[in-house]
Amino acid sequence: MTEQRKILVTSALPYANGSIHLGHMVETVQTDIWVRFQKMRGHDCIYVCADDAHGTAIMLTAEKLGITPEQQIANMQAEHQKDFADFLIGFDNYHSTHSPENKALSELIYNRLKANGHIAERMITQAYDPEKGLFLADRYIKGTCPKCKTPDQYGDNCEACGATYAPMDLIDPKSAISGATPVAKESKHLFFKLPEFTEYLREWTRAGHLQEEVANKLAEWLDGGLQEWDISRDAPYFGFEIPGEKDKYFYVWLDAPIGYMASCLQYCEREGRNFDTYWAPDSEAEVYHFIGKDIINFHALFWPAMLSSAQYRTPTKVCAHGFLTVNGKKMSKSRGTFVNARTYLDHLDPEYLRYYYASKLTAGVDDLDLNLDDFVARVNSDLVGKVVNIASRTAKFVQQQGGVLAPEVADTALWQKFVDASEPVAQLFEAREFSRAMRDIMALADVANEYIATQAPWSMAKEPGREKEVLAVCTLGINMFAALMTWLKPVLPKTAAAAEEFLSTELTWRNATLFLGGHKINTFKPLMQRVELDKVNQMIEAGKAPAPAAAPTGWLAKDPLAAEIDYADFAKVDLRIAQIIAAEPVAGADKLLQLTLDLGGETRNVFAGIKSAYDPATLVGKHTVMVANLKPRKMKFGMSEGMVLAAGPGGKDLFLLEPDAGAQSGMKVM
Ligand code: 2FM
Ligand code: ZN
Repeated sequence: MTEQRKILVTSALPYANGSIHLGHMVETVQTDIWVRFQKMRGHDCIYVCADDAHGTAIMLTAEKLGITPEQQIANMQAEHQKDFADFLIGFDNYHSTHSPENKALSELIYNRLKANGHIAERMITQAYDPEKGLFLADRYIKGTCPKCKTPDQYGDNCEACGATYAPMDLIDPKSAISGATPVAKESKHLFFKLPEFTEYLREWTRAGHLQEEVANKLAEWLDGGLQEWDISRDAPYFGFEIPGEKDKYFYVWLDAPIGYMASCLQYCEREGRNFDTYWAPDSEAEVYHFIGKDIINFHALFWPAMLSSAQYRTPTKVCAHGFLTVNGKKMSKSRGTFVNARTYLDHLDPEYLRYYYASKLTAGVDDLDLNLDDFVARVNSDLVGKVVNIASRTAKFVQQQGGVLAPEVADTALWQKFVDASEPVAQLFEAREFSRAMRDIMALADVANEYIATQAPWSMAKEPGREKEVLAVCTLGINMFAALMTWLKPVLPKTAAAAEEFLSTELTWRNATLFLGGHKINTFKPLMQRVELDKVNQMIEAGKAPAPAAAPTGWLAKDPLAAEIDYADFAKVDLRIAQIIAAEPVAGADKLLQLTLDLGGETRNVFAGIKSAYDPATLVGKHTVMVANLKPRKMKFGMSEGMVLAAGPGGKDLFLLEPDAGAQSGMKVM
């Protein structure tokens, strides 16, 4: 028996300004499986989380709804907790960053950073909405692109042409909140002196706390030089006021990770535990943060630096995962694949998704694809067709003989395979290699089914005098089922509980290899229904954004058929079929992909603002339509030699034009 470990686990704190969706569920399911596994192994493991309740967005949402931010975050938290509970996420504590614990800890940590000389202050100039009396983050400023003149562009880059600029360089910039013209205004900001931690972080990021690919990425940032981190925001802001300052608030990302500690503190106070055992510098407890790969810098740079300055321990591991795609594409409201947790729960069993995610999750940061056809096929084939089937094919023969399992193991070599698999499966769970664990478990389920099919107890049972044999075969079947269900218990807690009821025993890792002989079991009841494709389709329909109003909106409304042009004008545009032969993200550009296009013998380099809607890998090989005679433009990242055509409002909803099959590269579009 290994020593009992003390483990604290967290998932990233969801923002209190939006609903939980299936993307969030990748992370909470991954974390919950790992936590349930640790608990089953007998470790003292707790899982805490909270709502991330601060920031401008929440303040504005509350204002729009005519409620206080406190009411707004309370409503969202209730919704989040219900969604998570219904997905069988077993938090030991769920708190809010807008809590007395978090306020006290944030002030304490800030005061320590300041006392250590790690806080700088200086004046900065930002866009300011004079009507609203509010400094504007880039995403709250919109205007016409200074390069291509597309109206209604947000922030610091253009969705249409990919140009990047300062938000105040937009033509006719407007506050997206009030419509007022922003002015430049100075104010004092506080900065965390991250560069002073460069050497510390170089070591920390290589000390086994991170996945290797993550550490490599961070090494690039460290080599590029760290910047001081702006941790203050001016009033009005929904957050905690900074001690010793007037009208200054902690930036939401300062107190968000401290929310992990605050939730742990609330748990410790409620359960009579000592907070220091988790967070003191010499703590022997293990601390794991499960996060998405988009927030690595906050968790693997700012957070350890802050903790070390404030004399707390740093995380044992930051475990990053990739993003969710649905049917190979980013989730999209118009395709109905941006599915909220509640929409899923209204149509389907949470355990289907828990299993499907488990079957695809690895310890790496690759994106995870929810392919809906594969989802139906895999859940039905693995869970219903393989695992549950073992019990449903054997239980009735045991029942017929009084419900008591045979004392002996009918095939010791076969049973030994299961005994031998238990530790390796545990090691895969420990290493977060759930996909490999599921594969190994299903391989053993195949072995069990083959055994039962070969023995065919249903035929044997028809022959008088073979009762003992029938019982022995089915007893082994039931034991193999019990082992499989034990290993699946972290993934399928509800079905495992029903299996425990049927088997009249608790499924623990230690019991998995103990043969249940001479043991009385209960009547078997169906444990799981098949997934119906219809239900999946209904869910997708329900998730689709409402059809747009008949009147055109957005740029169409403002630009109704702008100005008519002659055919001669149109004929000047040389539209050609091009094949995408390479597609790459562009370092430093959030919205751009670099496309290499084949125009039938000639290749072109084009930067296209379509990254929000496309995974580059899915583009390679596609044919599309390009403006071939657009004057080459020098962009920050290189020359762009043309333009590809896409339709849609932008963001995830952007659709590259694709010709019918048969169109060849270089063909003129007329
Ligand atoms: O990215 C997000 O959704 C953030 N709300 C995560 C915060 S995690 C932690 F640091 F609190
Ligand atoms: Zn533009």
